[in-house]
Amino acid sequence: MKPLIIALALILAAPLPAYAHPRTPRDLRELAHQQGIRIGTAVDLAALRGEADYRTVLNREFTHVTAENAMKWESVEPERGVFIWRDADALVENARRNRQRVRGHTLVWHNQLPAWLTTGVAEGKIDDRELRDILRDHITTQVRRYKGKIRAWDVVNEVVEEDGTLRQSLWLTHLGPGYIADAFRWAHRADPQAKLFINDYNLEWNAPKIETTLSIVKDLQARGVPIHGIGFQGHLGIQYDYPGDWANVMRRFADLGLEIAVTELDVRMVLPVTEEKLATQADYYRRALTDCLSVEACRELTVWGFTDRHSWVPGWFDGEGAACLLDENLAPKPAYRALLSVKRPR
Ligand code: XIL
Repeated sequence: MKPLIIALALILAAPLPAYAHPRTPRDLRELAHQQGIRIGTAVDLAALRGEADYRTVLNREFTHVTAENAMKWESVEPERGVFIWRDADALVENARRNRQRVRGHTLVWHNQLPAWLTTGVAEGKIDDRELRDILRDHITTQVRRYKGKIRAWDVVNEVVEEDGTLRQSLWLTHLGPGYIADAFRWAHRADPQAKLFINDYNLEWNAPKIETTLSIVKDLQARGVPIHGIGFQGHLGIQYDYPGDWANVMRRFADLGLEIAVTELDVRMVLPVTEEKLATQADYYRRALTDCLSVEACRELTVWGFTDRHSWVPGWFDGEGAACLLDENLAPKPAYRALLSVKRPR
C-alpha cells in the first residue's frame, strides 16, 4: 500500500476527537452543559419540602427552575397587603444552593388572581385608576424582592386569544392595551438585569396567535419598551400532530432579537399508558429539544414538572396524564432517555 493510503486508513480508523462526539450525558444537567442551554422544571413546593426523593432528582437533574404556583399573585398576596413569600423564597434559596437559575412566573395573568382583587373589581370597589396602581405596586414589589436572583420573568402570560385578538382579561377591559407596555416598564425599573418575557401556549403552531404576538413584540420594541424574550409554553399531547413548524416560529421571534425559551413543556396522552404511546411521547420530547437546539437564540428548555407523581395534567385534562419525563416512582421513561440522546442539529 502506498504510504498516503496507509495514512488515510489510519486517520479514518482512529476514534473521533471527544468534542466531535461527546459521550452520551449521564443526566439532564450534563446534557444541559454539553449543549450550552439551561434545562429547567416547574417545582411543586410541597413536594420539595416533603419528599426527599423528589428533592434529590430536582437538584441533580436541573439547572433552571420555575415555581409552578408559588410566585403567582394569589399565592404571594392572598389578602390585600398580606404578603406570603415563604414558598417563593424557599424556591429561590434552594436554587441558589444547587446552582440553578430561576424563571419568575408570572407577573400579569388572568388566572390565579386573589379573590380580593377580582371581586373588588367586579363589585366596583376598585376603580380603574386604583387597579393600575395595584398592578404597578404588585410588579414592583415582587420584582424588587428577587432583584438579582431571577434570571428571567414571565412578565405577561397568555395575553392573546386563539383567534389572535387580545384576551378580554380584567387587565385589558379595565386598563386598555397599554397595560402590557406598562408591565414591562415597571418590571424593568425594578430589576434592570432581569430578562423580560412574554409567554403563551399554542404559540408553537397557532397562526393568528403567532402573528399577533409578533406584532405586540414589534410594537413594544418600536416604542422602546424593554422586552427580551418569548416563552413557548409547549403543552403538547400525542393525540395531536407534533407542531412541525415550531423551529421556524422560534426563528421569526429570534429575528426580532428575542431570546427564545420553552417554558412549560409537557407531552400528555390519553390514558391508559402503553409502550407505543410512551415511544411517541419520547419522540415529541426529542423533537422539542431538537427544535430548541436548532435555533441559536433558544437558551432554555423547561418542563412543567418532571414526574407523573406531580403533574397538573390529570387535574386539568379529563382522562389524560403521564405527561412527564419520569414516572410516579421517579423512574426514567423513554422520553428521558430520548432527551439524553439528542445531538445539536447542524
Ligand atoms: C398550572 C399549575 O400547574 C397548576 O398546579 C395550577 O392549578 C394551575 O396552573 N399555563 C401556565 C401555568 O402558565 O401557570 C399553569 O400552571 C399551566 C398552564
